[in-house]
Amino acid sequence: MDFEKSERLKKLPPYLFAEIDRKKKEVASKGINIISLGIGDPDLPTPHHIVERLKRAAEDPKNHKYPDYEGLYEFRKAASLWIKNRFGVEFNPENEVVSLIGSKEGIAHIPLAFVNPGDYVLVPDPGYPVYNIGTIFAGGISYIMPLKRENNFLPDLKAIPEDVLKKTKMMHINYPNNPTSAMANKNFFQEVVDLAHKYKFIVCHDMAYSELFYEEPPISIFNVDGARDVAIEMHSLSKTYSMTGWRIGFAVGNKSIIEGLGKIKTNVDSGIFQAVQEAGIEALSGDQSIVNKYRSIYKERRDLVVQKLQSLGYDVFYPQATFYVWVKTPNNIDSRTFCGKILEETGVVLTPGVGFGSHGEGYFRIALTVDKEKLLEALDRIERVSF
Ligand code: MLT
Repeated sequence: MDFEKSERLKKLPPYLFAEIDRKKKEVASKGINIISLGIGDPDLPTPHHIVERLKRAAEDPKNHKYPDYEGLYEFRKAASLWIKNRFGVEFNPENEVVSLIGSKEGIAHIPLAFVNPGDYVLVPDPGYPVYNIGTIFAGGISYIMPLKRENNFLPDLKAIPEDVLKKTKMMHINYPNNPTSAMANKNFFQEVVDLAHKYKFIVCHDMAYSELFYEEPPISIFNVDGARDVAIEMHSLSKTYSMTGWRIGFAVGNKSIIEGLGKIKTNVDSGIFQAVQEAGIEALSGDQSIVNKYRSIYKERRDLVVQKLQSLGYDVFYPQATFYVWVKTPNNIDSRTFCGKILEETGVVLTPGVGFGSHGEGYFRIALTVDKEKLLEALDRIERVSF
């Protein structure tokens, strides 16, 4: 039998990376060798000491039971200490920190706790598709905040109409930004927090790329006044410690926002495998030198790709953070046509900017998640395609 899908599901666009994966397999089946610069999945392995801790923890029968819904106290404490060391702000592990099955899970679930049908959620475009998807699941309305290059890919807060702000329940922001790699400064965060106070909405700051910076370390939204009243920040171990497959992250912030998210989670999932949480503790409180080492590897890749693309005449937004390079398509070709042709003719997987929203049109994204030799090979292949 073929069952009719819910209206909610029918409203969803195809999930960007699943779609790219499908096309990639199609091309690979023709015998074309693939170099994937698509999804941001690190090629660098999870550091050894973290894997070793998982092995030990997996042997322990106490970890074979249902985990605590909100996450092991020790994990939340390690997360809170990590935040304190990195950003100088303190959160009570008891009620201001919750563990997440990756930050994607938190982003998808949080609207269910606060957004009623018809409420507005301010969503950046281009942006991580889950901001819009989570809004749709909750019956909310995504109000698109265009991220434009002339504004350094920050939303223009003054352009949001008053009647939308009055009906806004939540705003998603994400700096360092995926896909553009843009950074935000203190003034921007302060303006966001002030606006949220004025119109009484929640700010959900996705900081999955906080440690992938090349010059200045990014600041947290909690480094500005009043943020604790209105904000939650999603953190992820995925990119910082090359742990995408482990599904572990956490959120810190306003007590009542954490409580709402925690309540949704209690009802839909049973937390993270405790052995993975123990490995997470090791990641957050163990030797951090590997983070520096990985950062310098990505930096070398960034320099190489930016230099080569510029020498080929591409217009590149210079990335100061993330492992993405955001590039204009040549001759204003639409991004799906450009990425499609590159994939079919060369086997190089790129992400079309439009996949992150209509304001991403005219750009494509390169993920620096393969080694330098492969990156060079990919760029050589791209160079041979004529448009
Ligand atoms: C991306 O490539 O944009 C991200 O890796 C996707 C994700 O984190 O889920």
